[in-house]
Amino acid sequence: MQKISKSFGGVPALIEASLEVMPAEIMALVGQNGAGKSTMIKILNGAYVRDEGSISFNGTPWTAASPQQAQRAGISTIFQEINLIGYRSVAENIFLGREPKRGFGLLDWAKMNAESAALLKRFDVKVDVREPLERFSTAIQQMVAIARAVSFDARLVIMDEPTSSLDEAEVAVLLRTIRQLKAEGVAVIFVSHKLDELYEVCDRVTIMRDGRTVQVSAMKDISKLHLVAAMLGRDLAEVKKRGATAFEESSGANIGGELLQARNIAVGHRVHDASLDIRKGEIVGLAGLLGSGRTETARAIFAADAKTSGDITFNGQPAAFKGPADAIKAGMGYCSEDRKAQGIVPGMSVAENLTLALMPALTRSGMLDEAKQREVVDRFIKEIGIKCAGPDQKIRELSGGNQQKVLLARWLCMNPKLLILDEPTRGIDVGAKAEIQMLIRRLASNGLGVLMISSELEEIVEGADRVFVLREGKTVAEFDHQNMTESKVMHAMAHGHDT
Ligand SMILES: Nc1ncnc2c1ncn2[C@@H]1O[C@H](COP(=O)(O)OP(=O)(O)OP(=O)(O)O)[C@@H](O)[C@H]1O
Ligand SMILES: [Mg+2]
Repeated sequence: MQKISKSFGGVPALIEASLEVMPAEIMALVGQNGAGKSTMIKILNGAYVRDEGSISFNGTPWTAASPQQAQRAGISTIFQEINLIGYRSVAENIFLGREPKRGFGLLDWAKMNAESAALLKRFDVKVDVREPLERFSTAIQQMVAIARAVSFDARLVIMDEPTSSLDEAEVAVLLRTIRQLKAEGVAVIFVSHKLDELYEVCDRVTIMRDGRTVQVSAMKDISKLHLVAAMLGRDLAEVKKRGATAFEESSGANIGGELLQARNIAVGHRVHDASLDIRKGEIVGLAGLLGSGRTETARAIFAADAKTSGDITFNGQPAAFKGPADAIKAGMGYCSEDRKAQGIVPGMSVAENLTLALMPALTRSGMLDEAKQREVVDRFIKEIGIKCAGPDQKIRELSGGNQQKVLLARWLCMNPKLLILDEPTRGIDVGAKAEIQMLIRRLASNGLGVLMISSELEEIVEGADRVFVLREGKTVAEFDHQNMTESKVMHAMAHGHDT
């Protein structure tokens, strides 16, 4: 792809950007939120039409009419959200739209099942292909999407943040699949914000910034720090300083009295005995392996799920919330890990999405105070650096990371006493991540209590004043900032005690 330019409503998203990938090469594509990675990919696979520039594929000029046509021609794209059909079988999903027939329009089930199983076996996935897809984990579903992609005889497989919702073991399986593709001569373009993954599998990296390609390098020739600096467009010293500041600021100087206490909480079959407490102005981390009950505990505190036993006190009162509405009224906010399910309203503007929960407060006798709304929106766009054309832009047009920031702002503008953040920086680039972490710290120093769930140990260890560790639905350890190290927390996550 050479000198690709693309504007949306006069705002340039790509400016003479380029991208090259060789057969059997794994190319990393990195850049901050909004840098233009997904736009580049959508132009390649025919989802968008380019304004300018040229593309060649297999040595001939290339323009895809649609992602389906691109797939038939050998370019398959796998998105973060799997767009397969959950209730259909694994095999049906692989052959969706081109099922083998036995004559008289009858489906050749035996052939379909056998070929699907063979395909998946190539990637070491052994499942019953007659089972509905939704019975399997996200990782397996993603593998099915890849098998489908490969079954079209793909020469190039594009993965746009495929690992953001996978756990560590699942990521390992996906990375192995990528290596397998390479071994079979297939080229891969891999978009991810997780540097470790990129360094593990990629041959080269293309770095984008503000719609341009700023650097292409062999992975082995570029250090992580250099890569981040190129993404951010800053010099190395400044990047180092940024990291250091975020860390230092987490001293938690203004921690006040008790804000929340949860004792011996049990919910569903995952959580039996979770206890934690949060003080005003304190950032409390909740660590644990996938399935340890972190989200379930947080949801019980927010009254999104009913606890079966245990006591919660919030702000000096026993919390007898009937549901999230009561929790919100009392001053809690909950930013869930799944930004799609949690209610981005795609057709609405940035301003409307941002102030959705604040609407009652902005409305006087049925009239929306637009000036006030605009003031709030402008402040948050500026404060957390939401990259958008303006408050009236549709949120679906924003890059993934910027959508996440709008959702965070939705809760922040309610001025909550306690904010529960479930994976607050998932899918967010390195620069924005540091910004969001600093913002959380700043809010905490003004008295906000924060409960932060994160799968990234570094984020918890560096960002939290205290951490509670859950293991199999039970609180097994507590560390304060001074005693907290990644290895101690990890040990407690794995073994349930801290020695
Ligand atoms: N359909 C669209 N309409 C208007 N603007 C768009 C559209 N698609 C993308 N943009 C804009 O183009 C720019 C690049 O967005 P893109 O989604 O390519 O970023 P990205 O690098 O994939 O970011 P992320 O890491 O957050 O996924 C952004 O400023 C975005 O708002
Ligand atoms: Mg993107």
